Amino acid sequence: MKTPRISIIGAGNVGASLGQRLIEKDLADIVLIDIVDGLPQGKALDIAESAPILGFNHRISGSTDYSDSADSEVVVITSGIARKPGMTREDLIRINSSIVSGVVKEVVRYSPNCVIIVVANPVDAMTWVAYKASGLARQRVLGLSGVLDSARLATFIALETNCSVKDVSCYVLGEHGSSMVVFPRLATVNGKPITALLPAEKISALVTRTVNGGAEIVGLLKNSSAFYAPSAAVVRMTEAIIQNQDKLLPCAAVLNGEYNLREVVIGVPVKLGRDGIKEIVNLDLTPDELAILASSAETVRKQIGSITLE
Ligand code: NAI
Ligand code: 2OP
Repeated sequence: MKTPRISIIGAGNVGASLGQRLIEKDLADIVLIDIVDGLPQGKALDIAESAPILGFNHRISGSTDYSDSADSEVVVITSGIARKPGMTREDLIRINSSIVSGVVKEVVRYSPNCVIIVVANPVDAMTWVAYKASGLARQRVLGLSGVLDSARLATFIALETNCSVKDVSCYVLGEHGSSMVVFPRLATVNGKPITALLPAEKISALVTRTVNGGAEIVGLLKNSSAFYAPSAAVVRMTEAIIQNQDKLLPCAAVLNGEYNLREVVIGVPVKLGRDGIKEIVNLDLTPDELAILASSAETVRKQIGSITLE
């Protein structure tokens, strides 16, 4: 059987951390690609030299040449910049859409049957760019959002209720940004909704902290954004695809009528397996909840509308 290959575009904080986490799982060969010569090669070699200590057998390599990523089953796009002081959200969208669309065209040239996971921000709009630039079916292009945002919410719930994170279940939906959607009734501890466990003002504080989860980390790190939890979240998504798990995970997905939304990307629960999204799962939402989700989608629609696809 052919050894599966996962490629990671962008060997910066998220990309390198992801490469390390994936190779330590020994699931597939890993290829790191970056535009900066030496960076992916150096990080890959450093990680590879930990194999005799940690005992993984798959190979990790680095390159600036996309042909080295050929025949990847999964390609993760972390190449992009983070918003810097003085830069508007529109500036970020313009720069990252140009990077993402250029990168994705190279990716599909060598891996025409891959599943693409987009990480670069603003991730919902960048997932749309990757979908359009790749020409792949919408099931094969998804983005990192809800797995990370739900993990943050679960962490805060576990801290607040003094329970194990393993007993918390929750889904964060919508845009990965300020219009992120958290329905507290969908968050449970040992099957009990948090609405029955915590006072409303506590829940509201947990939700606000989750929505601002990325900014909280940037505020502490100053010069970079989060990468440990994001890379762990992408491992979860990648495993579901490589191992054909049919795992239900909240991800940024291209909608075509689901939740009464189309031609837009937001975070929704999906069933993930070998060919990417096997199903977009329709949660039983109230009309008010659907309206909140639609309003979040509108934020992404405006971002998408501002992008000129090359
Ligand atoms: P970073 O700056 O550490 O790494 C980005 C890497 O991409 C750099 O090594 C850079 O050389 C490379 N790169 C830039 N242009 C490229 C190109 N055309 N081709 C190949 N490589 C290229 O940034 P970090 O922390 O890894 O974050 C990456 C992106 O992911 C950012 O846009 C960030 O906002 C986003 N992000 C999104 C998350 C999510 O939940 N969706 C979570 C964390 C980060
Ligand atoms: C985060 O949520 C920066 O989107 C990134 O940490």
